[in-house]
Amino acid sequence: MKIIALVNNKGGVGKTTSAVNLAAGLVAAGRRVLLADLDAQGSASLSLGLTRADLSPGSAEVILDGHPIREAIRPTSVKGLDILPGSMALASADLVLSAVAGREVVLKDALTPIRGDYDFTVLDCPPSLGLLTVNALTAADFFIVPVTPDYLSLEGLVNLLDAVERIKKGIGKAAGLLGILLTLADYRLNVTEEIGQMIRGYYGRLVFKAEIRGNVRLKEAPSFGKTIFDYDNGSAGAEAYRQLTKEVLKRINK
Ligand SMILES: Nc1ncnc2c1ncn2[C@@H]1O[C@H](COP(=O)(O)OP(=O)(O)OP(=O)(O)O)[C@@H](O)[C@H]1O
Ligand SMILES: [Mg+2]
Repeated sequence: MKIIALVNNKGGVGKTTSAVNLAAGLVAAGRRVLLADLDAQGSASLSLGLTRADLSPGSAEVILDGHPIREAIRPTSVKGLDILPGSMALASADLVLSAVAGREVVLKDALTPIRGDYDFTVLDCPPSLGLLTVNALTAADFFIVPVTPDYLSLEGLVNLLDAVERIKKGIGKAAGLLGILLTLADYRLNVTEEIGQMIRGYYGRLVFKAEIRGNVRLKEAPSFGKTIFDYDNGSAGAEAYRQLTKEVLKRINK
């Protein structure tokens, strides 16, 4: 099983949208996939048709209380895609984990029993570099950084990659950067083209060719509890996430 984390401490950059639709794209490509929602907002879980009443037991109980992971995993609206839901109980994660010995490896250890059940686990991280994200980077083989092509994101990207390097130095082996994903690109703005080119120029092949443009269908899909493929398979958003999935499979060689 390969584990891929979607990481950016900046909020609203498309981590959840990308986690959900990459996971669904991998299922469409015939892989067995688990999506683990590590965000207290539970957005990934709600996007896949779970109700608020249905979010626990989930990742909070598994990570914070040692609840058996298999009992917390359930199916989603997508056949072949399972989820470990996220809930408000994750809000206390930093506080609870800070007192735990081996606090960085709790998630990695918790995933051990299901390693044979899936080809991929996709981790949707919260918008912070707290202990949940540190756990994700420790458990994951790879991480993807979604960034919106605007000036402040560019600043943030440099700081984020530095911070990830520091975390990795602290914990030994950790996830490698699989790629930078340009998201929510809005070409009605002049800066989009400019900043997008700067990021591509500077990070070169680390930037995925696939680019997720602003797309109304991507914004609408979660309110129907559907992935972009089930909501509007012919949309530009679906096509972009199909292309991303292909690139991910190619980069991981799986
Ligand atoms: N390509 C897109 N086109 C249009 N809307 C999008 C696109 N990607 C994401 N969105 C919307 O933008 C908002 C933020 O996206 P998302 O929740 O995926 O970001 P996030 O990084 O997970 O946010 P958070 O940091 O709060 O967890 C959501 O309302 C989502 O539906
Ligand atoms: Mg999110």
